[in-house]
Amino acid sequence: MHKKENATGFENLPRHIAIIMDGNGRWASKRLLPRTMGHREGMKAIKRVVEACIEIKVQALTLYAFSTENWRRPKSEVSYLMDLLIEFLNRELQELHENNIKINVWGDYYSLPPKCVKEIERAIELTRNNQAMAFNLAINYGSRPEIVRGVKSWGRDLLEGRVNIDDLDEDLFSKYLYTHDLPDPDLLIRTAGEFRLSNFLLWQVAYTELWITDVSWPEFTREHLLQAISDYAKRDRRFGGLNNSKQEGKNVKSKNI
Ligand code: FPP
Repeated sequence: MHKKENATGFENLPRHIAIIMDGNGRWASKRLLPRTMGHREGMKAIKRVVEACIEIKVQALTLYAFSTENWRRPKSEVSYLMDLLIEFLNRELQELHENNIKINVWGDYYSLPPKCVKEIERAIELTRNNQAMAFNLAINYGSRPEIVRGVKSWGRDLLEGRVNIDDLDEDLFSKYLYTHDLPDPDLLIRTAGEFRLSNFLLWQVAYTELWITDVSWPEFTREHLLQAISDYAKRDRRFGGLNNSKQEGKNVKSKNI
């Protein structure tokens, strides 16, 4: 873990935070509102969290906005989510750019409605050279499709002689994933209390610290984020080895579990 001066005062700030934003529908149903209102409130939570991450100076924030499985929802809900994405980019793009934020979209976004593709490409293009924080939106994303895409891409390089089979290792394969230029998430937050990964960054979260809260995404605030970061900072990340005090003075080989 690295040490860094930052706005939170925590020594061990996560470099990369990933979030499964869940509970929009339940938040709305509880208030007798249509599910779409939950997504709209969820958009406000995105703004709060992005602002906090910019201030804290995390290197990367990744949000699971629409999974490859979310197409199974009613057409009207899917279409509302697409419109919300456009609204979000229209409203926030300029400010994100001014804050030197680089927007990436992970997933097969070419299959989205053309108006979404256009907005996404505008956002990616405008912020391409920004460096303060990577803001990654996983849209029409699934981790298994990401891995299959990576295998195909590596296979193409193999067939065309750009790589050798014996050079393939975890580091090289990681270069074929959306996260190729970023550290793996240090912290994965999931709201609304479910204990599952939902096909999100399966390769990359091998050693990620999980933080799950019952709070639904529309209710998620900067304070919740700071609590997650504070809890993370106290965790003892051993990556399969032993913690430092137990290793002192001993030549301990780490076990890969
Ligand atoms: C999960 O809640 C949330 C989603 C499937 C979509 C996340 C979308 C947003 C936060 C809104 C806007 C997005 C952007 C990028 C502007 P759920 O509907 O599955 O909640 P439930 O489990 O309570 O039904």
